[in-house]
Amino acid sequence: MTAARPGLERSRGLFVVLGVSGSIAAYKAVELARRLTQAGATVQVVMTRSAAEFVRPLTFQALTYRPVELEMFGQLDDRAAGHVAMGQQADLIVIVPATAHVIARLAHGFADDLLATTVLAAHAPVIVCPAMETHMWANPATQANVAILRERGMRIVAPEAGELASGLVGQGRLAALERIEDAIAEAVGEARSLAGRRVVVTAGPTAEPIDPVRVISNRSSGKMGYAIASAAQAAGADVTLISGPTALAAPAGVRQVQIETASELREAVLALLPDAEAVVMAAAVADYRVAEPSDVKLKKRDARGEVTLRLTENADVLKAVMAKRRPGTFVVGFKAETGDPVAEATRMLREKGPDLVVANDVSAGVFGADTDTVTFVSVDGAEALPRLPKAEVARRLVQRIAQALGGAS
Ligand code: CTP
Repeated sequence: MTAARPGLERSRGLFVVLGVSGSIAAYKAVELARRLTQAGATVQVVMTRSAAEFVRPLTFQALTYRPVELEMFGQLDDRAAGHVAMGQQADLIVIVPATAHVIARLAHGFADDLLATTVLAAHAPVIVCPAMETHMWANPATQANVAILRERGMRIVAPEAGELASGLVGQGRLAALERIEDAIAEAVGEARSLAGRRVVVTAGPTAEPIDPVRVISNRSSGKMGYAIASAAQAAGADVTLISGPTALAAPAGVRQVQIETASELREAVLALLPDAEAVVMAAAVADYRVAEPSDVKLKKRDARGEVTLRLTENADVLKAVMAKRRPGTFVVGFKAETGDPVAEATRMLREKGPDLVVANDVSAGVFGADTDTVTFVSVDGAEALPRLPKAEVARRLVQRIAQALGGAS
């Protein structure tokens, strides 16, 4: 037996749920359970019914010193709602192997066994390690399901090419344990990278009233800001999300402050600024508001075919943040442009002085999309990222913030 990778030691003291589903590769999860336990993690194995056809629960139990869980309603701690208790307790969930069926069920939010409910109830990072016959892996249904999991921020350790249990050769073989261990070490490292840090994220559009029923707003969906709040929370930060009107639910564990106008956003940000260690200004703040919004609903018949709205400039919140921040508070601005976003971001860096600007090109109808192509611009230069799911862009931004802030507070 080979030794565990040094990075696995980061899992010491953590409660790791090891989900095992029904593929012949289940036997490899036995070795992973052993290595994680030796590294000092508490390993709770959750098997699907079909996994238990491949490997006996007793094998895992003997190596992890804990009974294996298979049943939704027969669990460890009777006080907590059994089927979600483990998900809520988990510091990390690793699914080795993940069959096409399990991936499909996770992608569509099924809650029909203990592994599914555990993942649904969890805030912890989830690592999915698929293993299946090559045609099943290549099938568009599986690939679409994997893409959904990625977009939601789960990590996929892609299967490798090689000889499969079926005798076929192709991609589908469970990734080498070393790659899975590296993914665990990375996830655990990131899960602590902002531990205890107070982070404020603004997201979504603002809405400036014209009258009691009408507003001037913009096309921001809020998805980027929500993904950043979620990634920062997953990195251990204490996150407040200041959000304009969106159709999104606040990520679990994130405090939310609802605003409508730029002026409300300004107040909310400045109230939190004295304690904030990082401020991420992802909201699409209106530059102008209606100078004199009407207290009563405007009538069409009074307008006689034409309306003129006088707009007045809103205060720039980012500038106010830069003026009032404590030294060391890391500030991120966003620059959405239809022209040359990197040139504009560089100009904004010079003029407003945030530590980092996220530049993105919004000329190609990207509003509401789940992916983004952005460039991180700072005084150290520009880092152009490929097109990525917003969850991944958010994760990389959180890494940059964590690097800038240094070790946990
Ligand atoms: N922003 C802000 N307060 C405003 C307007 C914008 O804090 N009143 C912030 C946004 O949250 C974002 C950044 O400033 O982080 C970029 O906004 P943008 O309007 O693109 O920048 P401007 O410098 O105002 O550029 P433009 O002249 O193109 O509007």
